[in-house]
Amino acid sequence: MKHAKILSAAALITLMGASVAAQAYEADWKRGRVYYRSVCTSCHVAMPVGSINPSTKTKAEWSVYLQADKHAKDKDTVSKYVSKAYRASIKSGNKAAEKFADTPEKELMEDIKAFLIKGAKDGDAPATCS
Ligand code: HEC
Repeated sequence: MKHAKILSAAALITLMGASVAAQAYEADWKRGRVYYRSVCTSCHVAMPVGSINPSTKTKAEWSVYLQADKHAKDKDTVSKYVSKAYRASIKSGNKAAEKFADTPEKELMEDIKAFLIKGAKDGDAPATCS
């Protein structure tokens, strides 16, 4: 009997551990903000397009935009600019790219999304780029 109890306790702990591990990554919108402003915006301001404020789109529009993963009138992708390869290519001149050089791409993308959704026209805190 004692044995069975110990076993079931062990099973319970294993289950609890598994469910914690399976939980979705909790996006860090502050990290997303830093990346958006330092990497995305620093290029946009150097281009004719100029800065693109999160508050120019609604939450739904940002979700659709990021889901489609098409960037600059379909010329490339948003994920390209979130990739480790891109961060590596600019990190010598970009502090955020250097700081987040090893951040998993998926996490960084979630962070950026959280910032854009939060800063959307109808978001919790409509945001500009600066
Ligand atoms: C190396 C430069 C560069 C970087 C880095 C960059 N963008 Fe852009 N982005 C552009 C250019 C250029 C345009 C404008 C394209 C046009 O209108 O012809 C653009 C346009 C956009 C637009 C307007 C809609 C569209 O796709 O045309 C959004 C939104 C956008 N970028 C988001 C992002 C996000 C998010 C990041 C960072 C993860 C990012 N960009 C990084 C150059 C860049």
